[in-house]
Amino acid sequence: MTICTAKNYDHMSQIAANILAAQIVLKPNSCLGLATGGSPIGTYKRLIEKHKNGDLDFGEVKTLNLDEYCGLSKDNDQSYDYFMRDNLFNHVNINFDNVNIPNGLEADAEKECRRYNEIMAQNGPIDIQLLGIGTNGHIGFNEPSDYFTLKTNHVSLTQATIEANMRYFEKADDVPKTAYTMGIGQIMNAKKVLLIASGESKADIMFRALYGPVTPQVPASILQMHSNLIVIGDEAALMRVSK
Ligand code: GLP
Repeated sequence: MTICTAKNYDHMSQIAANILAAQIVLKPNSCLGLATGGSPIGTYKRLIEKHKNGDLDFGEVKTLNLDEYCGLSKDNDQSYDYFMRDNLFNHVNINFDNVNIPNGLEADAEKECRRYNEIMAQNGPIDIQLLGIGTNGHIGFNEPSDYFTLKTNHVSLTQATIEANMRYFEKADDVPKTAYTMGIGQIMNAKKVLLIASGESKADIMFRALYGPVTPQVPASILQMHSNLIVIGDEAALMRVSK
């Protein structure tokens, strides 16, 4: 595990974007595993800047997103599909045929999980997986559980996650209660994992995830077993880790 302490959110975003950009430069048809949430927005901004400067070509890049809320259409500005277009895809030269996100409008969960597993098998292995972390240790939408999930699954969001994500919605009732997420096994199959975290609210969970017992009750703790994990956090998020 490589741990990199950034000065602040911007610095964290700069380092993460540099690592992703290097991946694309070295392998133009890289398969990127992408994440949503507040953590990666700055990273995506930096990637867009690099593209606009002529330094980064997304023409052959393939992407597999981690997760999607159930019940939100792509036009809903809280869907992860919308988020990805708004924060990255619409601003770079990505080929939308190479973009993959679970379909939150598919009501048949078994069918959607099977479809996404097949897409992952066809496009993988993921060369680099960008990850944020929930305050309860979730990665993607893999919530604390009695077991680690292997493949794409349909999850009920915990109250903690609904409350944490409420800030993006007008009211609590608007937060979807279920989601589709890539499984932990699929995340672990990525050749490289880039975990980013910022702010004091992530300090405890970063400590537990990186130095606590490996348990499905803290889904991110499995990352300790990954052979190529890079952690980039700002000083606040890493205050318990780097002491
Ligand atoms: C959501 C996403 C996760 C993300 C987490 C943390 O629940 N499904 O992939 O890592 O939120 O979000 P933030 O970066 O906004 O703290």
